Amino acid sequence: MGLSTKTLTVLKYNDAKLELVSEIKFKQTENLLDLLNAHKIGISQSCGGFASCTTCRIFVTKGLQYIKPREDLEAERAQERNFTEQERLACQIELPVEAATDFEIIIANPTED
Ligand code: FES
Repeated sequence: MGLSTKTLTVLKYNDAKLELVSEIKFKQTENLLDLLNAHKIGISQSCGGFASCTTCRIFVTKGLQYIKPREDLEAERAQERNFTEQERLACQIELPVEAATDFEIIIANPTED
């Protein structure tokens, strides 16, 4: 498989309007929370990435079909909180660089810088 680069478009709500936060390029499969942190995108992460706080919740609005289904911990949180299919924990998902599409997410709990 050849080298490929993917783009992650990051959005958040500003009042009721969607606002572009960043467009991140990545060249290898990345944990989503790590990728956001590496680019200094403000996102809540109270438990430090252990699938317990759910503050890193995001909505995957593009590319969801290339992200692996929830594993046990994330599935438990999702059930407790009635997450929709698109609603995932950034700390628990990986964005595969070999996906046939770019990715887009909306951050549910952004923080200032
Ligand atoms: S950082 Fe707490 S669930 Fe992801």
